[in-house]
Amino acid sequence: MEHTNQTQNINITDALMTRINELISHYPSDKRKSALLPVLHEVQDAHDNWLSIELMDRVAEILQIKPIEVYEVASFYSMYNQRPIGKYMFEFCQTSPCCLNGVENLMDYTCNKLGVKVGEPTPDGMFEVRGVECLGACGYAPMMQLGDFYQEHLTEEKIDQLIADCKDNKIILHDK
Ligand code: FES
Repeated sequence: MEHTNQTQNINITDALMTRINELISHYPSDKRKSALLPVLHEVQDAHDNWLSIELMDRVAEILQIKPIEVYEVASFYSMYNQRPIGKYMFEFCQTSPCCLNGVENLMDYTCNKLGVKVGEPTPDGMFEVRGVECLGACGYAPMMQLGDFYQEHLTEEKIDQLIADCKDNKIILHDK
């Protein structure tokens, strides 16, 4: 699991708690753990897109499970972040069909343009580049995920436009 010394302001608001309880209600009362994935999504969305140890401990408390059960899930799936990440996370698919269609060159291009390495946010915290496993959109290779949305058939020109749109605040990250 990635570790960070950064502290996080934990704020489980009434609205967030209502949403969590609604998610928990979808499962039998002795299977609260089944709500873990959607609950982590909600909690992460409400906390600048990352989960500190303290926040995961709070989720464990709410779901009445062991903290290690939360850590295991959060560290397994790439959509959960255990450290602060760039606001605009370019998650390039690095599985074979995307690789065969040049995704690695596009990742290098993006990193050079942003002046970062993979896995390092820009100093202003705006951008980050990450490689992930197949996102199930192989027919649209090379592709990446940005927020909740897929960006497909990527080219250097499309990357330029996406970066410009992010800087101009024209990119919507979440579908709700
Ligand atoms: S290989 Fe890239 S989406 Fe499947």
